[in-house]
Amino acid sequence: METITTIAELRAHTKAWRMRDEAIALVPTMGNLHDGHLKLVQHAKAIAPRVVVSIFVNPMQFAPNEDYESYPLTMGLDTEALMEADADVLFAPGISEVYPGGVKHTASVVVPGLNSMLEGEHRPSHFNGVTTVVAKLFNMVQPDIAVFGEKDYQQLLIVERMARDLNLPVRIEAVETVREEDGLAMSSRNNYLQVAERAIAPQLYQALLDVKALVEAGETDFQGVEHVAAQQLTEIGLAPDYVSIRRQSDLAPPTAGDTRLVVLAAVRIEATRLIDNVKISIT
Ligand code: PAF
Repeated sequence: METITTIAELRAHTKAWRMRDEAIALVPTMGNLHDGHLKLVQHAKAIAPRVVVSIFVNPMQFAPNEDYESYPLTMGLDTEALMEADADVLFAPGISEVYPGGVKHTASVVVPGLNSMLEGEHRPSHFNGVTTVVAKLFNMVQPDIAVFGEKDYQQLLIVERMARDLNLPVRIEAVETVREEDGLAMSSRNNYLQVAERAIAPQLYQALLDVKALVEAGETDFQGVEHVAAQQLTEIGLAPDYVSIRRQSDLAPPTAGDTRLVVLAAVRIEATRLIDNVKISIT
């Protein structure tokens, strides 16, 4: 595996691959890799002969009060993990390579509507930062396929919408959330949890499973179910920003007859914010 930090060097590699008709899959990450990321890489390897993993902690998707400055950097361990996973290239550009004109004055990509609900209500500029950097990475790597985790379900939908609306020649592949044995969705931010917080964190997944069970059993008072779940989370010590049942395809509130739903939630445990989601299927 080669570690590359410049777009010019990256393009030399991808050009050679493209000339040999070798499809390229991109796995965009912010590093601090865990088994959830490695599953994305594994998936990419299974569907494309060439795999690029990017590691870039993107300042544009963090608000000033968020954890950009303290975001865990583990480049040595990440490099070892990616070598083990047999990625072809680790692309780890610096800030000036990604934002040559500075972060504040860059052109940006916006996916209206989807960017301002749920996570977007609590992190207003977050998704504009995500779509801008993902569009940039797509232009730098020019992948045939890009792989994203369902753990960030809203992000996945927004990237799909961006690719569709801008006619980007890339196929977006989704990979199921990887969980710890106790159900907690793997996330780099789990490292922030103190022992007692880590002990209650799996209750988030449990609450979502309870919502799923109720709705799949025929409960139609979605607001009531969301309210009860939010109350239970609060009592446990997981302060919910939202618990919301939405349509899988576009995150709109469900209407009668919708059968593919998803319940999404974000909770705060002291300084740490966790998100998760579970799909619901009504037969
Ligand atoms: O999901 C992430 O790690 C980031 O939002 C992404 C897609 C790498 C963009 O910075």
